Amino acid sequence: DWTPDQFIETTVQELGDLIGNDKVVLGLSGGVDSSVAAMLIHQAIGKNLYCIFVDNGLLRHNEFQSVLDSYQHMGLNVKGVDAKASFYSALTGLTDPELKRKAIGRVFIEVFDEEAHQIADVKWLAQGTIYPDVIESVSVKGPSATIKSHHNVGGLPDYMKLKVVEPLKTLFKDEVRLVGKTLNIDDLILSRHPFPGPGLAIRIIGDITPQKVDILQQVDHIFIQSLRTSGLYNEVWQAGAMLLPVQSVGVMGDERTYENVVALRAVTSVDGMTADWAHLPHEFLANVSNDIINKVKGVNRVVYDISSKPPATIEWE
Ligand code: XMP
Repeated sequence: DWTPDQFIETTVQELGDLIGNDKVVLGLSGGVDSSVAAMLIHQAIGKNLYCIFVDNGLLRHNEFQSVLDSYQHMGLNVKGVDAKASFYSALTGLTDPELKRKAIGRVFIEVFDEEAHQIADVKWLAQGTIYPDVIESVSVKGPSATIKSHHNVGGLPDYMKLKVVEPLKTLFKDEVRLVGKTLNIDDLILSRHPFPGPGLAIRIIGDITPQKVDILQQVDHIFIQSLRTSGLYNEVWQAGAMLLPVQSVGVMGDERTYENVVALRAVTSVDGMTADWAHLPHEFLANVSNDIINKVKGVNRVVYDISSKPPATIEWE
């Protein structure tokens, strides 16, 4: 029978044999998979693992710094790269969701490539690919394959000529979490909701500006913190907010104002393939809504998404 301890023991041994004294580069995302992959490889080869964590300017409020701190705490050799300006500049004026995804993917590869080149003699690229990623990327055919280009499998250009190592390739998500727990990875990282690679860019409907990112980060932060303090965070699969390209009317004294509408989305799910909208308590939603409207300048209306997947998707783009 599979146990995390035994998986760790065998995998660390195999990684050590495979990699020897070579250097390995790995892109951390803040998510469970890349973090667990990093810790396993770190156990096998220590400082020869070079981790890169890119700030694309599309992460949650304070996320870059707090996750970077956790990684450093875990003893990882990690370099944080501030590439916000490059991502914003590549996104300027783009409104099509797929073009936004492509631009983000392209800039990520450019940034990662540049950083990887600064590591002398790096031979391997490590990835946190898990079993469902492998399955999906071979079995998804037809139109759905092009609906969303969100698979990070095989995402790097050939000219990098790195050998690929994917220590989690046979595991399911729950097994990855168990391995992470056994490796003593911070619960902040292990219990995190899935978060899309393109981040807030696909939760801002329409074009991206740093100002819109700032508004959405504030809204999202209030929502997520409220879920945490109410003990609801672990009850939902994923939660977040969408900034809509809609100005709605409001009143301030006897003036009419036109400000932004945000939609809150929280779903329950086992694998993200199907999902139900989370039946959050009305009182909770009322408090979050008041909090957002009172605290976030530029937002005067909050709506809650009550669509299930299918036919709606979890993200709006
Ligand atoms: P949908 O919106 O298709 O999302 O129901 C299913 C899951 O995938 C995530 N998602 C993405 N993840 N890059 C990613 O890395 C993407 O472009 C992307 N689009 C959606 C979504 O957050 C949910 O967990």
